[in-house]
Amino acid sequence: MLRAVYTHYKDWNAFQSAYTEAAGVCNGCHEETARPFIVITVPAAPPVPNQQWEPPANPSKK
Ligand code: HEC
Repeated sequence: MLRAVYTHYKDWNAFQSAYTEAAGVCNGCHEETARPFIVITVPAAPPVPNQQWEPPANPSKK
């Protein structure tokens, strides 16, 4: 389940579907264990908003 999330990290659609499936499993168990208030969602924004994670235009240049 979580392995699928990591293997698809370069393919947005596959990643999103694997992530959504994994979050469904997480949330399903939280409901069954009487903790429905713990809800995992798909992030709407990157976790660190003040950093740009694009690769450099010319990585070999120092
Ligand atoms: C087998 C059942 C089960 C599965 C699967 C599960 N959880 Fe949980 N989770 C729990 C239970 C039970 C608690 C409450 C633990 C407690 O009360 O100390 C919990 C608590 C949490 C918390 C709150 C932790 C805290 O500090 O109170 C988070 C965050 C969380 N789970 C995330 C996840 C994520 C993300 C996944 C899926 C990748 C996941 N859980 C899958 C049962 C599960």
